Amino acid sequence: MRPTQTLSSEHRVIEVVLDSLEQLIVRSRASNSLERETAEQFVDFIRTFADGCHHGKEENHLFTALEGKGASRESGPVGVMLHEHQLGRNYVSQMSGSIAAAATGDRAALETFLLNAANYVQLLRAHILKEDQILFPLADSLFSEEDYAKINADFAHVESHHMGEGTHQKYLDLAKSLADKFGVKADALHGQVSCGCSHAKKSQPINEVNAL
Ligand SMILES: [Fe+2]
Ligand SMILES: [Fe+2]
Repeated sequence: MRPTQTLSSEHRVIEVVLDSLEQLIVRSRASNSLERETAEQFVDFIRTFADGCHHGKEENHLFTALEGKGASRESGPVGVMLHEHQLGRNYVSQMSGSIAAAATGDRAALETFLLNAANYVQLLRAHILKEDQILFPLADSLFSEEDYAKINADFAHVESHHMGEGTHQKYLDLAKSLADKFGVKADALHGQVSCGCSHAKKSQPINEVNAL
């Protein structure tokens, strides 16, 4: 599998969670309340899966490899993507910081959470579209099979060393549970591999991982 396919496949998981978060916003606005544990699950998913794992793979490996092909981190498509990752972190930080007060009935804190959550949903949907339709096709046109084998190995390392074995599956399960809770279609989760690198096969040699 090409690394861009791995990342696009992760986009489908993130979109299920964005759809679910949108439903949380609708329900919270209707009830003027926020369920703390559920809100914390969204923040956990975003920080660990969407930002830590997915954006980590993009920033530290795919974008770095694109730099090696002449792309700038300061401007152009990669620069824009990096800026949007940072904007997303700011929204999530505001969400996280307002949960405790919002869950105890503080209206201003609830508004802060809902506004930043809505901004995050809007930002990430547009961001994913740009990556799928512009950045990844650009990467596919620039990288050789050898380049992609190296990036696949880097992705495998992210899953096994930075995320830890079983973490990817844990967050796929969380995405499914949030989708079920909010009545969101989760067809995109069917057929998702446990991760882009088969790290579950602990003793698998790296050259076999590259061949996936
Ligand atoms: Fe991204
Ligand atoms: Fe992405």
